[in-house]
Amino acid sequence: MTKFAFKIRDVEFKNRIFTASGTFGYGVEIPQLIDVNKLGALITKSITLNPRAGNPPNRIIETPSGLLNSIGLANIGVREFLDKILPQLSNLNTVIIVNIAGNSDEEYGKLIEMLNNEPVIKAFELNLSCPNVKEGGLSLGTNLKSVSEITRIARKLTQKPIIVKLTPNVTKISDFAIAAESEGADAVSLINTLVGMAIDVKTRKPKLSTITGGLSGPAIRPIALAKVFETVRAVKIPVIGIGGILSLNDALEFFLAGAKAVQIGTANFINPHSSVDIITELEKFCDDNCIKDFEEFIGSIDLSGNLAINN
Ligand code: FUM
Repeated sequence: MTKFAFKIRDVEFKNRIFTASGTFGYGVEIPQLIDVNKLGALITKSITLNPRAGNPPNRIIETPSGLLNSIGLANIGVREFLDKILPQLSNLNTVIIVNIAGNSDEEYGKLIEMLNNEPVIKAFELNLSCPNVKEGGLSLGTNLKSVSEITRIARKLTQKPIIVKLTPNVTKISDFAIAAESEGADAVSLINTLVGMAIDVKTRKPKLSTITGGLSGPAIRPIALAKVFETVRAVKIPVIGIGGILSLNDALEFFLAGAKAVQIGTANFINPHSSVDIITELEKFCDDNCIKDFEEFIGSIDLSGNLAINN
């Protein structure tokens, strides 16, 4: 293993920079743009049992330092994903993680049953945090019992790593991480987007068709960092940091807070090369700073002289 490699369950990741679900298509559109094989992992957009057209426009709005989206889990559905997308993903030399989203506990179970025997799929990310759907999404992800139950069902059905993607739209995100860990999750990823809203003052109309959407991008990074810091102290399983990472420096903040890996999301819309650029820059950073074992850098935030109020 190189100094950047690490494992979740028996799956080895060549580095700790992943692309986030929903910001990288199904993973097959991008190889023309970047060398996907350099990524630690590629996470597909959310796959649901049935195809979904998603929410009507407008479903993406730019805000200061952020992006509000209300895509509504638009995707081709699991059957077409298996038939048309998965064969193309088999040519890639990176870990393929499939993000799945259901309306109910049963749907998560069915999705895993349909996907689990595919050797190309190395791990699952359970999307328990989409703020833009009437059923599923936040109604499940903000309910501790549902998070426990869905994780328990998933754990029974697969030996592959299960990563539970958590919402920050709760009082205490670490309680949800503990619930996932208790039911056998191998890692948690956080944060998904924060519920936000924008209004066109001239028309007096909400800018998004669904009124509210999910805010991502640099605007949410300090919140994401605080949630990662909190969660790392609450669970033993790896915490994967997500939230407005645009640069190496941003990623390093998450590693110092204790994230074992990070996902690059909104940055992909600004510069599709962001993730591979960060991988290259991280290697140089480690060489320049004589960091031989990256695991030692992780969580090495210096808290001496600080006063812990909320943690
Ligand atoms: O609307 C969406 O498809 C967003 C999904 C998510 O945030 O998980």
